[in-house]
Amino acid sequence: MSKPFQAIRGMNDILPGESAQWQRLEATVREVLAAYGYGEIRLPLVEKTELFTRSIGEVTDIVEKEMYTFADRNGDSLTLRPEGTAGCARACLEHGLLHHQTQRLWYAGPMFRYEKPQKGRYRQFHQIGVEAYGMAGPDIDAELIALTARLWRRLGIRDVTLQLNSLGSSAARAAYRERLVAYFTARRTELDEDSQRRLTTNPLRILDSKNPALRGVLADAPALLDHLDPEAQTHFDELRALLDAAGIVYEINPRLVRGLDYYSKTVFEWVTDALGAQGTICAGGRYDGLLEQLGGPATPGVGFAMGLERLVALLATADPSAAESDANPHVYLIRVGDAAQRDGLALAERLRDQLPELRLRMHCGGGGFKAQFRRADHSGAHYALILGDDEMASDRVALKPLRAAQGEQITLPREQVAVHLRAALDLTA
Ligand code: HAM
Repeated sequence: MSKPFQAIRGMNDILPGESAQWQRLEATVREVLAAYGYGEIRLPLVEKTELFTRSIGEVTDIVEKEMYTFADRNGDSLTLRPEGTAGCARACLEHGLLHHQTQRLWYAGPMFRYEKPQKGRYRQFHQIGVEAYGMAGPDIDAELIALTARLWRRLGIRDVTLQLNSLGSSAARAAYRERLVAYFTARRTELDEDSQRRLTTNPLRILDSKNPALRGVLADAPALLDHLDPEAQTHFDELRALLDAAGIVYEINPRLVRGLDYYSKTVFEWVTDALGAQGTICAGGRYDGLLEQLGGPATPGVGFAMGLERLVALLATADPSAAESDANPHVYLIRVGDAAQRDGLALAERLRDQLPELRLRMHCGGGGFKAQFRRADHSGAHYALILGDDEMASDRVALKPLRAAQGEQITLPREQVAVHLRAALDLTA
């Protein structure tokens, strides 16, 4: 027999034991976003390739080497979305969501980048992204950052650091770029191959290099923060004052440049040391030029996206017990004998009517007591509910605790099972 199929490298299945943790994370994020007045937008996974090349930038890693691009059957070039900001902006323009109004939106789902897979870096990964439109002042930047800080508190995540920088206006950045190119050209021999290539394509990204051999040449490089235009400088100063007043601690990282070209002014990343090399759990910034670049009216925008694989991994390191699955049943129903098989289904349905919160797994597929008990134990259930010939004859049901300190097996009249389980499992309804 041939080997069974395997998933594509870097594209992961999320198995039932893990999905409960994802659901908890997603539910908390939804609650926090609702509390700040953000509405969900659902976007296609595929867009025209040009949308991404124009917004993310031709000479970025994403566009140059990471996009899943293919020709549609009619010859159009399409791309699996590598991120959500471009599609969200496209949708807002297409549906006139930005006419004389502000918008606060969020989206969730898979993104695709052909990267080298490693821990925390995948080819299909999941983001929850948040975007705010039509607000030019630093108050919305500060509110978005406060939202993320609240989210970490709600999730019990500590040991994350907020890094902050400003990229200035595009004109100021162009002038700075020339300075930077002059500086790096003079010290060209100290650069590695990658940075030498970037010198002509995307020199700001050299600042982002993680190569320790470049530490000296990077340390002496002119800092963009020293060359901001007055408007961006005021925006940055005000943002800092707002964060200070709200008690949100940050580090200024003058080398934070981000890997996408649409940013201007504020950029930020939340990073942790607990995940190894891929420590950025959330990243974003302001992109005031993007909507115009996509053919819309000039509209300010600011947002961020968080990587869910990294957040789930971080939650697991913070509290491994939280990884225990909520999907485990409360009750495993054992049915032995023909009459019990029939009656057991009816009993299970009645209990589900009476206790909507109850997680009841009914044994299917036959087998004797021993085999069914083994399954009940493996299921992680709190109780086995037993219907066999004896119970059928006496019109009762046996309830056997499967975990320590839950007492002895008892038998109950059928009509008392729901009341008993409600109390024992602390269910509402
Ligand atoms: P990004 O920095 O490319 O920004 O991605 C945001 C986050 O997604 C990262 O900080 C990381 O947590 C996660 N992430 C990115 N690539 C991968 C990967 N290959 N595997 C696992 N996780 C990954 C953006 O995508 C912007 N659209 C964010 C934004 C929204 N800016 C403004 N609005």
